[in-house]
Amino acid sequence: MATRAGAAAVVAGAAVVALLSAALALYGPPLDAVLRRAFSLHKPHSITDMENTLQLVRNIIPPLTTKKHKGQDGRIGIVGGCQDDSPSAVRDVETWLPRLHALVVGPGLGRDNVLLENVKGILEASKARDVPIIIDADGLWLIAQHPALIHGYRKAVLTPNHGEFTRLSDAVLRDLVDGSDHREAVRRLSQALGNVTVVRKGERDVMSDGEHVLECAHEGSSRRCGGQGDLLSGALGVLVHWALHAGPEKTNGSSPLLLAALGACSLTRQCGHQAFQKHGRSTTTTDMIAEVGPAFRRLFET
Ligand SMILES: *[C@@H]1O[C@H](CO)[C@@H](O)[C@H](O)[C@H]1NC(C)=O
Ligand SMILES: *[C@@H]1O[C@H](CO)[C@@H](O)[C@H](O)[C@H]1NC(C)=O
Repeated sequence: MATRAGAAAVVAGAAVVALLSAALALYGPPLDAVLRRAFSLHKPHSITDMENTLQLVRNIIPPLTTKKHKGQDGRIGIVGGCQDDSPSAVRDVETWLPRLHALVVGPGLGRDNVLLENVKGILEASKARDVPIIIDADGLWLIAQHPALIHGYRKAVLTPNHGEFTRLSDAVLRDLVDGSDHREAVRRLSQALGNVTVVRKGERDVMSDGEHVLECAHEGSSRRCGGQGDLLSGALGVLVHWALHAGPEKTNGSSPLLLAALGACSLTRQCGHQAFQKHGRSTTTTDMIAEVGPAFRRLFET
């Protein structure tokens, strides 16, 4: 996990940024009808709300210009997917942190005790530097054991699936919420964690910052393949940085993290939808990654 993971992390993050940036270079027809049923806000439920929210996501995307240099639109680190370990892991990652704009923690991480101790150290170091953190998969297992690690850190986004969501709720909520009311359940979990942003992945993705609740039911793929969550957390790493960097004028008073979450969920689903149309039951996450450029253009380039 140490240096090798650090290096792999930055390379992988850079690849996501490169894909998204490449997508920005393309242009195409606006998307309308497909999107009309895709988003809903917690209370008012109109196309205008949905369009406004999506417009805010478009607002945060930095323009591509010939004047920019590599890394200027974001360097995203990923901690995960490596069996190595070393006592100096935290120190190694700390040397990377000053250069990173967001950190994704969890994909393929594993649950080895020494490794998780290191991840704790990395989380503390990232918080101290105010680096946004996206936590998925085994990273969420760690948070369920030690919720205080992330409690109240407003630059954190957790992306649990059904099982991970239940484990987190059991860990931090005393009285259980009605499981069928996903919106309320997500809002309650966010509040119990001190209003960190929670994105519950499912048939519809439901996300909340403890106050507002957004939902993304954009048509995706009915095929579940391993690795889709990695696409979502990677895209979130990029979009969270863009949203925070864009500033309140661009986000119009909305939570930057919620906008990023809506953008990342929509993008992942659009990738799934396009890949499924081509590959059907044999769709893999690699096929979805190949769709990042066209899906990004279709959703956000108008
Ligand atoms: C920005 O916020 C104002 C005030 O809440 C609202 O009237 C306007 O529709 C918002 N604009 C967008 C693009 O969401
Ligand atoms: C979380 O957000 C809710 C709703 O805005 C608010 O009532 C509550 O005080 C917030 N909690 C913290 C710890 O900030």
